[in-house]
Amino acid sequence: MNELTIQYNTLSAEEFITLWETVWGQGPTLEQTRLAMEHTLFRVSIFDGDTIVAMARMNGDMGLCYYIKDVVVRPEYQGKGIGRMLINELLKFINDHGVKGTEIFVELCAMTDKIPFYQKFGFDSNEAQRLKMMYLVK
Ligand SMILES: CC(C)(COP(=O)(O)OP(=O)(O)OC[C@H]1O[C@@H](n2cnc3c(N)ncnc32)[C@H](O)[C@@H]1OP(=O)(O)O)[C@@H](O)C(=O)NCCC(=O)NCCS
Repeated sequence: MNELTIQYNTLSAEEFITLWETVWGQGPTLEQTRLAMEHTLFRVSIFDGDTIVAMARMNGDMGLCYYIKDVVVRPEYQGKGIGRMLINELLKFINDHGVKGTEIFVELCAMTDKIPFYQKFGFDSNEAQRLKMMYLVK
């Protein structure tokens, strides 16, 4: 592994889909993903040389709440502290932009086996249930 470099707000739709497919199978379409990247508040990507090895993104209103999405470390790079780097970058963004002395609600959705990873940063679950639907755009 070379020295890792971090990039902000450069994550492309193509890079997103490539990384997605290393962990979750068939990714979303290029058209949907381009729109999503364009409208994401903050994107972080980590490179080993020219190879993208990790990404995370976050939406939010900067004042009251944020939502973390698509935290992915390429499988062969997992367990080396890169996931921690991603979350620390997201939390730094929140800290750099929030109103000093106030609390900001930060949310994400995690599979059960990933909860201990997020707990290391202070995340915990509450009694609220996740409601969802896949809305078909006509
Ligand atoms: C979850 C994920 C991002 C973690 O990234 P990673 O680079 O492997 O994590 P790190 O090496 O930075 O680990 C940081 C700490 O969390 C711990 N950790 C990581 N994954 C864990 C897990 N699944 N369960 C418990 N602890 C975990 C590590 O042991 C480490 O602990 P330490 O700092 O006390 O030594 C990565 O496994 C991944 O991309 N998984 C597939 C995609 C995914 O499911 N993303 C989450 C979507 S909610």
